[in-house]
Amino acid sequence: MADDVVDQIRERVDIVELIGQHVNLRKSGRNFTGLCPFHQEKTPSFVVFPENQSFHCFGCGAGGDAFGFTMQIEHIDFRGALEQLSARTGVALRPATPPPPPDEIERHDRLLKLNNGAANWFAYVLWQTSQGEPARQILERRGVDRTTAERFKLGYAPESWDALQVYMAKRDVKPEELVAAGLAIEREGGGSYDRFRARLIFPIHDKDGRVIGFGGRALGDAQPKYLNSPQTPIFDKGANLYGLHLAQDAIRREREVVVVEGYMDAIAAHQFGFENVVASMGTALTSAQVRLVRRSVDRILLALDSDAAGQMATIRGLDVLREGLAEADRPVPDAAGLVRFERTLKTDIRIVRLPSGKDPDELIRKDVAAWRQAVAAPLPLIDFYLDTVIGTEPTNDPQRKSELARRIAPVLREVSDRIIQAHYVSEVARRLQIDERLVLSSGNPIPSKRLRLPESKPTKRTSPSSEEHLFALLLRHPLILTPLLMSISAQEMLDARHVEILGVLQASTPETTEAALAELSETTRERAMQLLELIGERPLSYSGQVRREAEEALQRLRKERHDYRMRQLMADLAAAARDNDQEALHYNMALIDQVRARYPEFYPEPSPYFRDVRDNAS
Ligand code: UTP
Ligand code: MN
Repeated sequence: MADDVVDQIRERVDIVELIGQHVNLRKSGRNFTGLCPFHQEKTPSFVVFPENQSFHCFGCGAGGDAFGFTMQIEHIDFRGALEQLSARTGVALRPATPPPPPDEIERHDRLLKLNNGAANWFAYVLWQTSQGEPARQILERRGVDRTTAERFKLGYAPESWDALQVYMAKRDVKPEELVAAGLAIEREGGGSYDRFRARLIFPIHDKDGRVIGFGGRALGDAQPKYLNSPQTPIFDKGANLYGLHLAQDAIRREREVVVVEGYMDAIAAHQFGFENVVASMGTALTSAQVRLVRRSVDRILLALDSDAAGQMATIRGLDVLREGLAEADRPVPDAAGLVRFERTLKTDIRIVRLPSGKDPDELIRKDVAAWRQAVAAPLPLIDFYLDTVIGTEPTNDPQRKSELARRIAPVLREVSDRIIQAHYVSEVARRLQIDERLVLSSGNPIPSKRLRLPESKPTKRTSPSSEEHLFALLLRHPLILTPLLMSISAQEMLDARHVEILGVLQASTPETTEAALAELSETTRERAMQLLELIGERPLSYSGQVRREAEEALQRLRKERHDYRMRQLMADLAAAARDNDQEALHYNMALIDQVRARYPEFYPEPSPYFRDVRDNAS
C-alpha cells in the first residue's frame, strides 16, 4: 500500500480517541493510562502516548501504533486495519496496482531482445565490415579506444534505407516490430525504412544493462547531430541516465555521482578511469533521473561547461533536482514546504565548474589534472546560485541591488540550517553592500504555513529509523538473519506493517529476498519494497557484518523505545509531583519500576567496587 495513504491515515487518526472507544482512559500528565485490554490487570499499566501516536502496556508488553491496536483488538490483519481506519478517516485507499498483464511483459521482452539484436548488429558493422571504416576513423580521431568503445557497445548504422530491416527479416522480425522498437520509421505510402542511417550508434542501457534505446551521431555536420530513439514502451530518454549500468558500482562505492551532458563526455570519463560518471543526454536533469541514483549517493555533482546558457540550464535543472529530492520524503501535506527545505540542504548538490568553453570530454583528454581538480572542488549549490545571479561585477546601482536581494531572499529563506543561512546572509550583504538585516526580509514574506507547523508532529526523517533499517536488513538477508529474526518480538515494533512482515517471516523463514517478498500480502509487499529501497543494494560482504548491523539496529530500537517511554513517564511523574497528585505519583513510580525491571540491560547492577553516579542520589 502506498506509503502516503498509510501516512495520511496516520495523520488523521487520533490514537487517544481510537483507543478511548475500547479502554477507559485517564489523563496522566501528557499521556493517557488505563487497564490493558490485552491482559487481565487490576492496576493500570497501559499507556497511550499521543505525541508519537503509540501505545504500550508496561505489564504485558503489547504495543504499537493505531493500525497495530486495531489489528490486535479486532483480530484482523494489516489490510483489515487499513480498511477500517480508511473508512474511519475518509482517506480513500487506492486499489493496489495490478501486476502488468502477461502479454505486456512478453511485448517488452520482445522489444528488449530486438534492441539487443540490433545493438549487436551495429557493433558488427562497426568493427567487422568495410562500411564501418569511417566510423572507426572518427572514434580514433576522437581518441576513443577499442576497449571503451566495446564496453559502451558502440556501433555503426550503415548508410542504407533498409540494411537493418533486411538483416532482421532473415531472423523473422517483422517491419512493424522494428517500427514499434523505434528502429524503423513508417513510410506514408506503406512500408518502412531504417531510422538510423550513416550514424555512429550509442546504445542506451537501463541500469541493469539491457539495451532500451539508441542515440545516433552523424559522422559529419549532418543535422541533427544526434538522432535518438523515440519514446517506446521500454524507452523514456528523460527517465534514464546514459552509462549508469557501467557507473553503478563506482557510484555506490564513492557515494557520489558526476552528471555530464553528453554521450561523448561520459565515454571519455570512463576511459580515463572516472567511472562514477553518467550523462543526462542533453536535457536538463529530470527528477526521474535523480531518483535513479538518489539512494546510492551522498552528493550529486553536476559537471557543466561554464558558458552562460549552460549555467541557466543548470539553474533550471536545479529546481527539478530539488523537487526530485524532496519527493523522496513523501511529506505530510501541510509540512511539504519545510520538508523540502530540510531535504534540499541535507543533500549535497554541487556544481563542477569547468574552464570556460571546455566540455568534460575535451578537458579530460587535454588536461586530466584540471578535470580532477574541478571535480574535487565542486561549488555548493547556493554559492553557484549566488555567483550566477549576482555575477562577479560589484554593483552600485540601487535599483539593481534591490532586485537582486528580492530574488535571492526566498532562496536563502529556504535554508533551514541557521548557521549555514547566516553564512550566506552575510555573504550576500557583503557582495551587495547592504545591511545584513535587509537580506532575508527582501521580497515576499515568509509563507505563513511554515509558522503554523504543529510542533509535536515530527517531520519525516530523511534517513531510515532503526525499525526500518532492521526490517530492510531482515528482508535483504533473510537467511543470514534467521536466528536474529526468531528472537524479535512483534510487540517491540511500532509500525503495524512491520509487525505483519515479521509474522510472515517468522512463520516461513524464507532464504532469499524473492522468497520473502513472495510470502507477503500485496499490502505489505509494497512496504517491503520501500524498505529494501531504503538501504539500496550495498554490498555487505561478510555475513558477520550483516548480523552485526542488524543486531545494532535492534539494540538501538530497544534503547530508543525505552528512552522515549522513560522520558514520557518522567514528565508525567514531574507533573504529578507539581500538582501534588499522590495517586498519580505512586502510579507513575510503579510504572517506572516496571520499566526498569523490564529492561535490565539499560540498568546494570551498581558495582560493589566502584561508585557510580547513582550513588550520589542516595
Ligand atoms: P553535445 O552536443 O554536447 O554532444 O550534446 P556530445 O555528446 O558532447 O557529442 P560531441 O562531442 O559533439 O560529438 C550533449 C548531449 O545532448 C544530446 C545527446 O545526448 C548529446 O550527447 N543531444 C545533442 C541530442 O540528443 N540531440 C542533438 O542534436 C544534440
Ligand atoms: Mn562534446
